[in-house]
Amino acid sequence: MVWVSIFWHPVWAVFTAVLAVVVRIQRRGPWDPHACSVRLKGKTAIVTGANTGIGKFIALDLARRGARVILACRSEDRGTAALKEIREKTGNSDIHLRLVDLSSLDSVREFAKGILTEEKALHILVNNAGVSGLPRQITKDGFESSFATNHLGPFLLTNLLLDLMKSSAPARIVTLSSVNHKKGVVDFSHFHGENLTYHMDSVYNHTKLHNVICTKELARRLEGTGVTANSVHPGIVMTEVLRHYPLMIRIIFNLVGFFFFKSSEEGATSSIYCAVAEEMEGITGKYCDSDCCLVLPAPLARDAALAVKDFEISERLTSKL
Ligand SMILES: NC(=O)c1ccc[n+]([C@@H]2O[C@H](COP(=O)([O-])OP(=O)(O)OC[C@H]3O[C@@H](n4cnc5c(N)ncnc54)[C@H](OP(=O)(O)O)[C@@H]3O)[C@@H](O)[C@H]2O)c1
Repeated sequence: MVWVSIFWHPVWAVFTAVLAVVVRIQRRGPWDPHACSVRLKGKTAIVTGANTGIGKFIALDLARRGARVILACRSEDRGTAALKEIREKTGNSDIHLRLVDLSSLDSVREFAKGILTEEKALHILVNNAGVSGLPRQITKDGFESSFATNHLGPFLLTNLLLDLMKSSAPARIVTLSSVNHKKGVVDFSHFHGENLTYHMDSVYNHTKLHNVICTKELARRLEGTGVTANSVHPGIVMTEVLRHYPLMIRIIFNLVGFFFFKSSEEGATSSIYCAVAEEMEGITGKYCDSDCCLVLPAPLARDAALAVKDFEISERLTSKL
């Protein structure tokens, strides 16, 4: 037990404090949303999964800039709590809650129908909602749940809102992927829950690869319309994203994360950058890292032929027969 006393030594405490400060400073990205003066008065934005984590801070930032913000959430209680908080913190009363379950194509269609009826314009769409670590489940549409929530639902939503965005141009679509897309592979049987292994974040990684691939192909299809589409990695962020993981994993994540990972507010930065920064005007089809740098995604996400195939298959699966 003598060695334990080392940790109580003042040198150890000072060293830990200095390390924590250095890590904290390193964590701060090069672009600061608070220093960005872009105003969004007269603009309308939708943020999916805006009731917690990264999505809530993206919505807060857009609300602070004066946008009309629609929080697209699946839980009325959690969505209402976020709505109140964002209105109170920003003084912007033009914030609204609309319910959608992205894992259900009917729910996505219903949500989009409401938006197309109620909104005259849509300038920013942030596809933020996502899940990781879900056990194997098949939705009533016949899709694997993580694929339905992270890829097919947001894919359909984006496509249903495209005409409104085109008529509102310039407009921006931002889709939250993850650096983990580099560990994903493309196998279209995954969409139906076939040939998948459920180990840690393996299924999640595949879904996040589809996000980057289809966003790139969408950008190509949108060329000349004034609507841009980019995907982002928010960083490793302390949110509820591990809620479906074993308790021990969550404890370790939170302990390590306290020093090394981003807060939800910091994790929102690269998405806000893509959604509002002047530097991103006209930039499309790119993948932005958590430091707001445009970097190359995985080789599979740069395969143009694969992108066309992925987009067409996703389109066919989400279209009404
Ligand atoms: N945290 C990270 O380290 C990290 C790293 C890379 C990428 N990302 C990406 O960042 C995005 C945001 O994640 P986060 O970390 O903020 O996670 P989070 O705290 O778990 O928030 C996820 C949000 O998505 C919503 N959501 C989940 N399933 C949904 C569904 N079927 N329909 C509608 N909304 C649904 C959740 O709603 P409920 O609260 O009602 O469940 C919640 O609002 C995700 O796309 C994630 O993949 C996160």
